[in-house]
Amino acid sequence: MTVSTTSFTDLTDPGLHATGDPHAVWRWMRAEAPVCWHPPAEMPGFWSLTRHEDVRAVYRDPATFSSARGVLLRPVRLGDDPGGGLTLALSDPPRHKRLRSLMAEWFSTRGVRRLEEYIRSATSAVLARAAETGECDFVHDVAGRLSISVICHIIGVPAEDHEDLFRWTNEAFEAHTSLAAHQRFMAYFIDLMDRREAEPADDLMSALVHGEVDGEPLTEEEILLNCENLVGATENGRLALAGGMLAFLEHPDQWRLLRENRELLPGAGEEILRWTSSATHSMRTATRHTVVRGQEIRAGDRVVLWLPSANRDENVFAEPYRFDITRTPNRHIALAAGEHVCIGGTLARAEMRILFSEILDTVRGIEQTGPAVRLRSIAVTGAQSIPVRIAAR
Ligand code: HEM
Repeated sequence: MTVSTTSFTDLTDPGLHATGDPHAVWRWMRAEAPVCWHPPAEMPGFWSLTRHEDVRAVYRDPATFSSARGVLLRPVRLGDDPGGGLTLALSDPPRHKRLRSLMAEWFSTRGVRRLEEYIRSATSAVLARAAETGECDFVHDVAGRLSISVICHIIGVPAEDHEDLFRWTNEAFEAHTSLAAHQRFMAYFIDLMDRREAEPADDLMSALVHGEVDGEPLTEEEILLNCENLVGATENGRLALAGGMLAFLEHPDQWRLLRENRELLPGAGEEILRWTSSATHSMRTATRHTVVRGQEIRAGDRVVLWLPSANRDENVFAEPYRFDITRTPNRHIALAAGEHVCIGGTLARAEMRILFSEILDTVRGIEQTGPAVRLRSIAVTGAQSIPVRIAAR
């Protein structure tokens, strides 16, 4: 028998994620309907997978579960994602691997180590600015400004333009529209692309402009959409940084533990990734007939992987609803797995480590001055705003 979601709360309703309890729905689905059909409505029909084991298996089988028609649910009226086959996230092997290798160096352990000094100085500047204003929004003024500044630096956006990029990105995020539809944002990247074409520099834009995949240079559309994707992907970074702060504000015992044991920082980063699970879902399209947990999936069917659910799977995590920075092992899947595992993972971890150690070193206290507001989105999960007062030492 196929279990369908029509009988209970709709996971594609952004309101559920803003003010409801999606974890209650996922908990029920993991137990009762781990492979669950969601009939077509505003969104196309899709299969929901909620267990860690199933989510991981789908990520690790890109030949059966393709990314090329899009990796996020979109209303039927919008059709397939126009970036299909063009961006890293929306490419299948073998092209995916070659495209990824053009960018990989910037996000590798060595690449991120080269960036650490920049991340540290950007972090202390952002924190000093937030402390100066007294009351601020941690999501926008700290996590958002820092994430954008770092990706801009990697792509090669000059420092004096970071604030413009930050503003345009926020406008697009707040309107829940794609950055590709933001004219000033795209015009800026067309201009930067032309400048790097004429005069290469040591940055990611130059690597994309002058690099080749299968002996062919990337088209302008591919370069622009990949830059747009990288900047857009930092929304996840900002949500993890801000969600980590909120978790510490809500669990002061864990903050005290970290303050007294700095060696817990890397493990705290992993627990923040698990706890925040800021990417709410990944979508795949079956390329052939297959079976998941006894349920037949036909070629062309969409399959949606719910990451916050996989990261609360009681078969994998002891006390999954507890925020515990000493959790070991911590086999979370917040950054996906397999070929499409998040390319920004090492960077996101470094940003977290540096932000929280700078806060421990330079901030006297952070006080939450009002309730956090959750995002209305089915693509990303987390706080839209967290009002705080930051007191410098
Ligand atoms: C903690 C924050 C982050 C989380 C939770 C996260 C999560 C994810 C997930 C789940 C995917 C897989 C998407 C899919 O294939 O369906 C992914 C891929 C990706 N992420 Fe992240 N991400 C984070 C930070 C970042 C950052 C900071 C960047 C870049 C600056 C980034 C860039 C990318 C890119 C380009 C891909 C596509 C990789 C590929 O397809 O090969 N992410 N991320």
